[in-house]
Amino acid sequence: MSIWRVQGGYPLEGSLTIQGAKNAVLPVLAAAILTGCETELTNVPALRDVEASLEILRQLGCVVQRQGGTVAIDSRNVTGCRIPRELTGQMRSSIVFLGAILARCGQARIAMPGGCELGPRPVDLHLAAMEALGAEVRVEQGEIVCRAPGLTGGTVHLALPSVGATENAMIAACAARGETILTGAAKEPEIVELQGFLRVLGADVEGAGTSVIKIRGMRPVRHALWRVMPDRIVGATMLCACACAGGDLELRGLDPAHVGSVAEELAAMGAQLDAGTRRLRIRCGGRLRGGRTIVTEPYPGFPTDAQPLMMAASLKAAGRTTFVENIFDHRYRQAAHFAAMGADIRLDGRRAVVTGVERLRGARVEAEDLRGGAALIIAGLGAEGETEILDRGHVARGYEGFDRVLSALGGHIKIDPARQE
Ligand code: UD1
Repeated sequence: MSIWRVQGGYPLEGSLTIQGAKNAVLPVLAAAILTGCETELTNVPALRDVEASLEILRQLGCVVQRQGGTVAIDSRNVTGCRIPRELTGQMRSSIVFLGAILARCGQARIAMPGGCELGPRPVDLHLAAMEALGAEVRVEQGEIVCRAPGLTGGTVHLALPSVGATENAMIAACAARGETILTGAAKEPEIVELQGFLRVLGADVEGAGTSVIKIRGMRPVRHALWRVMPDRIVGATMLCACACAGGDLELRGLDPAHVGSVAEELAAMGAQLDAGTRRLRIRCGGRLRGGRTIVTEPYPGFPTDAQPLMMAASLKAAGRTTFVENIFDHRYRQAAHFAAMGADIRLDGRRAVVTGVERLRGARVEAEDLRGGAALIIAGLGAEGETEILDRGHVARGYEGFDRVLSALGGHIKIDPARQE
């Protein structure tokens, strides 16, 4: 448990390179066991969810070494096919290992991940995809049990464009006999990234970034090298932080198209954005304007992960900003804490209406989930006085040295060491 102490009122200025993407590296780590090769990954962020994934790989029998941002995985001797509750409890998205374990071992046992801070996290689409590839799926004593001595390609249709289910289906299909056509696939940049990595592993896969992905098996290689893409949600976080605190930031490394929907909203609110090749500059002077309706949708729509961050940016914007959250049920948990800081927010089911206030004041609040925690830190940067954010480790799941990064840009922020995890 730690406490973030944020002294508001200091604009953010300077440039920063965006860290490697959490949501891109997790499926890549899972896919690394697919063929039994030696993989070297670079630009791997130091995050709690990444550490939990490396621990899963070790438990499965891989030799894993990390040196700074480089992670070497030797998956030639995978000996296990089970992820117990202790590990799924540490990282809810461990379901992303299902397809890879099943493909490699012919069976997989994964403790049910259960709900999370954002609400129930069903896995029906993941399981249906494995069944469509010929696996037998059961749930036994809280464990998902999949068996498929040989997976068979075919048509796999996802009723919803689930990111994780698309990743699982792509990974498992690489080991299937014959061609797999995946329809209704998610189109997020992390899916394109996974396709790139699977190709480096020797897979014949195309179509990522569209709703139809074709996989025609693989010719395994012995060594694979991959650099993890920059994190678009961290990029969105920095844009929203600048919008809330004011300032002039240059984000480097990031593909501006990956944060297009967020940048568009901020520009409509009055921020100045200039995109270049793998760089994006944001400048925010006076008060932003509200009036927008922000609806979360699958990519390229506005990302649900950026909704709490954008809400932080809208708290002081003149007029009303409406949010419609379409992806997760419990994604407004930050709202009550914003209200404690003086924000005016009305919640009504999937909708939240923010009426901009002139000023926010520091308060004692709590991070209840990863992006909600980051959003409170952002709001603290734009508030008067000190904001104390109690955090049970949520922010470190997705942000590498967030205090250090913000301090280097002029933010006044520290983590209370006495109560740090
Ligand atoms: C991923 C991201 C997460 C992001 C989310 C949506 C990772 C590690 N996490 O999560 O940060 O917020 O995409 O962009 O990449 N659903 C079902 N049945 C299923 C699976 C999902 O009904 O079997 C529903 C979910 O409840 C949710 C929606 O589909 O309403 C989208 O979820 P999904 O795209 O699967 O999210 P994740 O892959 O878990």
